Amino acid sequence: MTFTGFTDSGTDYSRKDDRGTERTARRERAVAAAVAQGLVGPDVPIIGLLDVAGIRAGAEALRAAFAAVTDAPVLHAFAVKAAPLVPVLRLLHEAGIGAEVASPGELALARAAGVHAAHTVLDSPAKTPAELREALALGIAVNADNPQELARIDALVSSAPTRSPLGLRVNAQIGGGSIEALSTATATSKFGVALRDEGARQWVIDAYLARPWLTRLHTHSGSQGVPLELMAQGVRAVYELAEEINEAVGRQQIDTIDIGGGLPVNFASDADDPTHEAYARVLKEQVPGLLDGRYGLVTEFGRSLLAKHGTVLARVEYAKSSGGRPIAVTHAGVQVATRTVYAPAAWPLRIAAFDAKGLPKSGGELAQDVAGPACFAGDLLAENRTLPPLAQGDYVAVLDTGAYYFAHHYAYNSLARPAVHGFAEGADGSVGFATVRRSQTLEEIVAEAGGGAERDALGRL
Ligand SMILES: Cc1ncc(COP(=O)(O)O)c(C=O)c1O
Repeated sequence: MTFTGFTDSGTDYSRKDDRGTERTARRERAVAAAVAQGLVGPDVPIIGLLDVAGIRAGAEALRAAFAAVTDAPVLHAFAVKAAPLVPVLRLLHEAGIGAEVASPGELALARAAGVHAAHTVLDSPAKTPAELREALALGIAVNADNPQELARIDALVSSAPTRSPLGLRVNAQIGGGSIEALSTATATSKFGVALRDEGARQWVIDAYLARPWLTRLHTHSGSQGVPLELMAQGVRAVYELAEEINEAVGRQQIDTIDIGGGLPVNFASDADDPTHEAYARVLKEQVPGLLDGRYGLVTEFGRSLLAKHGTVLARVEYAKSSGGRPIAVTHAGVQVATRTVYAPAAWPLRIAAFDAKGLPKSGGELAQDVAGPACFAGDLLAENRTLPPLAQGDYVAVLDTGAYYFAHHYAYNSLARPAVHGFAEGADGSVGFATVRRSQTLEEIVAEAGGGAERDALGRL
């Protein structure tokens, strides 16, 4: 596979890894410790690892980045879809980060993690009346996606008092990024009120004029693949709309602007690039009025907070060759890296090679396929990738997988959801682990597949 379709053309993905960074060193010590401590091995051939120090530092850097550009209150609401794991949400909560949720399940996870209602934002495009009622009863912020949803909220607001800050999601229709499936600000995107459609802008202004309780405005222009300048353009569009609405109302009715998430992640090296700090600076330059203290802010970053802190570590079960192509058959494939397997040009991942003791392999570069365990030919994490020769019993570390990869397990071949462990180093340099999520058991797989009370259901029809 070549990576010419990927954003940073010219990057050499065959390079083993960027050495020398703290992140790289911590990860390598964690891999060796996971093997030495038996967390991964012949009987547990795949695990996820999360770098707790990295997550804490990332949360702190995000808060500092926005504190440096505005004195207004800022709620950073982590997009739960990126890592729907309660201990991760709890760690972020303890670091002062709230939760953006987009389903009843994600709301339940945020609540289980102890995230306060006042630090929670509900954003999904298909909220049912029951979901809206629960959100308003809890007092969590809600962004209405469309006029019909706003009508449902009207009915709820008039029937019971609520503390929920309420807003409307708009689509500034500024265009897409390099990954179409993640571009939410295209002309025909399914999200929000399409601002440039005929009559839409006036409809939005009238909606606020008629609803003094509508105090927020929301946009999220897209995720991975949307460049910073385009993101800032979307934010500028909603800021200008907020100014226009407040002017029409004659007071500052909109007091908070939710700018969404979407900061792209660098999947080509261990560097954070772009940083939240760089984005905050771009916003300061391009939308200074947003940051002059009159508006509170909400952000909804997901991928940029977690991606670089996660690693999938999988054992090489067999090393073989086919048609002259060396192939490492590993336990990491479509079940954990669904997007990468089905859309490899959009979602290339770096892979680092480790030996059977969990030590980095070097030298002897060889072009090889890194395959997953699923029963279809396309289950490849990397095709023709240059890596040190992989042997049976070695490990592959699939890098930058902390966001979205642990989240969206794909049950092809009934492959078990792997365990996820957080790691941190003690004062003596030893690596300690804590289980974030157990691996799925065979009993759970059978039960979830109707193997319990439902077993004879069809025969009874
Ligand atoms: C409304 C909303 N906010 C935030 C996010 C998080 O985006 P990212 O993980 O790219 O920061 C998403 C992603 O789909 C989203 O739809």
